[in-house]
Amino acid sequence: MSSTFTYTFNHTSEFEIKVTTFFGLEEILAKELLKLGGKNITPFKRGVAVTGDIGFLYKANLCLHTALKVLVPIVKFTADNEHQLYDAIKAMPWEEFIDVQDSIMVESVLNTELFKHSLFVSQKVKDAIVDRFREKTGKRPDVDLIRPMFKLYIHVYKNEVSINLDSSGDPLYKRGYRSDINEAPMKEVLAAGLVKLSGWEPHLLLIDGMCGAATIGIEAAIIANQIPPGYYRNDFIFMKWRNFDEKLYDTIFDSSVNKIKNNPVEIIANDIDGPTLKKARTNTINAKVDDVVKCTQQSFFDIKPERSGGVIILNPPYGERLPVEEVTQLYKEIGNKLKKDFQNFTAWMITSNPEGINSVGLRASRKIQIFNGALECRFLKYELYGGTKKIHKLK
Ligand SMILES: C[S@@+](CC[C@H](N)C(=O)[O-])C[C@H]1O[C@@H](n2cnc3c(N)ncnc32)[C@H](O)[C@@H]1O
Repeated sequence: MSSTFTYTFNHTSEFEIKVTTFFGLEEILAKELLKLGGKNITPFKRGVAVTGDIGFLYKANLCLHTALKVLVPIVKFTADNEHQLYDAIKAMPWEEFIDVQDSIMVESVLNTELFKHSLFVSQKVKDAIVDRFREKTGKRPDVDLIRPMFKLYIHVYKNEVSINLDSSGDPLYKRGYRSDINEAPMKEVLAAGLVKLSGWEPHLLLIDGMCGAATIGIEAAIIANQIPPGYYRNDFIFMKWRNFDEKLYDTIFDSSVNKIKNNPVEIIANDIDGPTLKKARTNTINAKVDDVVKCTQQSFFDIKPERSGGVIILNPPYGERLPVEEVTQLYKEIGNKLKKDFQNFTAWMITSNPEGINSVGLRASRKIQIFNGALECRFLKYELYGGTKKIHKLK
């Protein structure tokens, strides 16, 4: 078993890295990894595998817009029951990179009939590591569920167990600019993914008509001005590892920050609700994009765009707790407003509500399946042409 244990990543060697994302964003993430210089890019469900060195691992955490976690696979084995799982974990030479003074945390995700509870699997893995240390040294590493030094991420598919070392710590959607949270905030990684999927380019006007925390607008500004999304938090678990090369990280950080632009971008984040908009404004200030994202308070139905053409993204209330008639009425009005006042715009809408989608009254030219948390959604594209399309008959 120990021959497959591969905690050997250093500056010179390249190793496999697995980057996780939300369902529906795999292709977007793969493009980002390619741009960042990754090799052997292979998308899988909710993630992308890539090869890179330790500098690439640092860069991936700092610079990716649509990544949730950057993981280093360390071992794979099969286990048909808890005893085999425990024995395999205990046989691994954990002391090669974990010191008895270090703290650990284990998180598991199961896709198997063999083990019923992820907490049970995490507990077994933790017990096996701790028992190995106790037998060898008489002491054991502590468990720290908040700020551990090593976070092990276990994935079980059928009887295949893969153990990964999480290099990110807090998931990367926790950018750090959103201190004050509104009711249904969208994860920053999803917002960045929607902006990229929409095909919005910084020379175009972008409007989020129902912005909540202004996450979509802020992520668009971050993309447009090439701000590394990890810039705000600058805190990753790999910084606690003994092999952390601070000089290398600082070089990567400085060169990424030096690329930040101050492009004249026009983004409008609008919401009807005063207190929500106040929080949105604070978020734009925290993210240092308040000069780019203009926050406005009015009903979406009163917006009159100042420019003809651009991109509008809508994340309306999904109306899970509203009567069907109210939901269908809201979405019907959204469709009418788009037709009337957003000619020459490309509109995108994300919702989990099928009745809502059917009530918009516009034909979607693209429908992308995507998840907003646990909610299965569609991200729909509507091309809104101006005027009437005249057909000239050939004489
Ligand atoms: C699902 S939330 C949007 C969440 C947002 N994407 C975020 O990241 O926080 C829907 C938002 O629509 C706003 N809203 C509802 N009706 C509106 C209307 N007629 N005009 C403008 N905003 C509206 C609500 O105040 C709420 O903030």
